[in-house]
This record gives sequence, structure tokens and C-alpha cells, in this order.
Amino acid sequence: MALSNTYQLAVIISCFLLPIITYLCFTQRPKKSSAGPLPPPTEITDIFIHPIKSCHYITVKSARLLPTGLDLDRHWMWVSYPELKFQTIRQTSKMTLIRPSYDAETDTLTVVAPVPNSIDQKLQFSVPAHPSSEWLENNTQLVNANIWGKETPAHAYSTDLTGSFNEFFGKEVRLVYKSPFFDAPRMLPSNGAERILGRPASTCFPDLMPILVGCESSIEELNSRIRANDDITIDIHRFRPNIIFKGNKPWDEDRWKTLRILPKPGSNNATQRFVLDVTQRCARCQVPNVDPDSAEKHKRQPWDTLMKYRRVDEGITYKPCFGMLCVPRGDGGILEVGMKMEVTEVTNKHRYIPGF
Ligand SMILES: *[C@@H]1O[C@H](CO)[C@@H](O)[C@H](O)[C@H]1NC(C)=O
Ligand SMILES: *[C@@H]1O[C@H](CO)[C@@H](O)[C@H](O)[C@H]1NC(C)=O
Repeated sequence: MALSNTYQLAVIISCFLLPIITYLCFTQRPKKSSAGPLPPPTEITDIFIHPIKSCHYITVKSARLLPTGLDLDRHWMWVSYPELKFQTIRQTSKMTLIRPSYDAETDTLTVVAPVPNSIDQKLQFSVPAHPSSEWLENNTQLVNANIWGKETPAHAYSTDLTGSFNEFFGKEVRLVYKSPFFDAPRMLPSNGAERILGRPASTCFPDLMPILVGCESSIEELNSRIRANDDITIDIHRFRPNIIFKGNKPWDEDRWKTLRILPKPGSNNATQRFVLDVTQRCARCQVPNVDPDSAEKHKRQPWDTLMKYRRVDEGITYKPCFGMLCVPRGDGGILEVGMKMEVTEVTNKHRYIPGF
């Protein structure tokens, strides 16, 4: 009887379990290696900072990388009053006509916007770009600002400074500020949450992650498709990225997992190393249809084209993707155009976790 039991067991294993094990081995194994080999190195070709959420960008040659993102990027945000709810291009396209500029000598941020229905009149104010907590105590009020349905502490500027912008918005607004150094951190949601990223990380007022990177090779490929239907070229600014890489194969960034940024060739500081964890693809809304220079929204592009072939993330199939969201590791330092970038890890497991 014992022998026959063993025999029966052997038959069960070979008939049922072995095929299942074999099937699992063959279906799992190719998946593991299908992320493919590491791409060749590339380089940083542009750096953009958007000091105020949803407002115009600034082009820079270098920027300080902080754990929360690039210094000055989205440290400010407009909110409605008295609700203190965040205002974005999604509802108000013309917000992109608000132009911040940075003067390094005086460490001042100056904000300029056109007066509605006027050809040449401007609204303008200036504030310290890196305010001390004492300056904030004197000139702002601590509030809870609402961004994507969540409250986060922020400093609301006195209307003595920003009041003229009510005219631009056509309603009561306040400008709020969040310091990346001494304010209560806004912890990352989605794929940046501690249980997924493996460490606590925060940011100021970006929608999701501290850094958005994009590739020239991908925007060129997108434009070649758009031009087949419409006489328009989409500038990469519309996607509001921070760091642009030259890139290699279009859309190869879909599988990037870890990036290492190295000094420029010939740099006298060979010790610099910056590491970015790529958390997910950036799922897009219709904001890129807005031209940041004119604030005009195109009826079709690039949304229609992106919807045709860039719904590539299993976690958010109803939205097209452009660019990759990243969280810096370590304390950061100065990033420069021309720095080399190596992808040190790739993955085929990127999956967007919706929700803020
Ligand atoms: C804040 O206000 C106090 C009292 O008016 C003043 O003495 C101080 O210089 C101000 N500090 C800053 C940074 O503006
Ligand atoms: C070189 O880079 C490191 C790392 O970013 C930085 O800590 C150091 O201050 C830099 N040294 C010089 C001379 O710029």
C-alpha cells in the first residue's frame, strides 16, 4: 500500500504540478529579462523651473537639486479665497501668462502678469526667493492650503503684496509658499508613498513627485506623428518638465528605473553623483494642449495623438503618458546642462498607482 501511495503521489506531481511549475517558469522567466539591456548614456540638454504652480517656466543652465525637487520649482501656488483651494491651468489656461523671474544677485522672485483687456499694462510684485522664517512671520499668515483634496500648511502672502492679482484672476486669490526646508513636509502619495518607495519623501507643490524628466527623442517622435495630421509642433514645455535629456530610442524612458547623473566631461568636480529613483510614468491630462506663451488651448493636439498610442501604463489605461516622475536620493547638489546621465536600472514593472 505504501508503494502505491508513493506511486499515486508521483503521478499527481507529474500530471498536475509539473506542467504548472513548467508553465510558471516559462511565463515568469522571459518577463524578468524583457526589460532589456541598459541604454547607452545620454546628457542633460535643458533645465526648467516653474516657481509658481501652473505659471510660466524659467529656463536655467544650472539648478540646485533638493530632496523635494529643484530649488524654486513649485514652491509657490495660487489658491482661491477664502476656500484656499489650488488654482491650475486645468481651469484657468491664462495662468501660464503669469511670468516669474529670478534675480540671483538680490535673491528675489519677481512676478509679472498682463492687466486683463489692456495691451501694455502689467501687474507686478517681488518677494524674497528664499524667505527666512522671520520674513514669513512678518509678511504672511500660516494657513492650510488645499491641493488635490488634501490640506497642507503654507504661508499666505499679505494682499499688500499680491492683491493686484485679484484683477488678473477676476476673483479673490492668495499666493501661498511652502519652504522645502522648514515647513511641514507634504509627503509623496501614489508610487512615492513610503511603503512603496522604501523611504519617506516629500515635495512642495508639484502634483505628485519632486521631478519630471522628459526626452528630446520622444518629443521629436510625437511631433512627427502630430505633423501628419495638424500643422503644429509641440514644444516640450507644454509638459512642464524639469530636466530634459537628449535620449536615445524614443520612449525608452518608459522602462527607466534608476538614473545616475555624473559631472560634465572636463568638469573639475569629478566627485559629483546624483541618483534619481524613477517612480512611474507621468499620466497626462489636457494641460499640454495649452501653449504656455499664448495661453491658447489647441482643440486636438497633442491630446488626440497621445491617446492613440501612449496609453501604455496598465495602472492608468484611460490616460496617455509622457515623461517620467522621479524622486531624488540623498542631499542633492548643483545640476547643470551638459551633465552626463546613465540609466543604471531598467524595469518592466512600472505601474501607475492613481490617487493623491
Ligand atoms: C520683522 O518685523 C520686525 C518688527 O517690525 C522687524 O524688526 C524685523 O526686522 C522684521 N524682519 C524681517 C526679516 O523683515
Ligand atoms: C563637488 O561636488 C560635491 C557633490 O555634489 C559637493 O559636495 C562639493 O562641494 C563640490 N566641490 C566643488 C569644489 O564644487
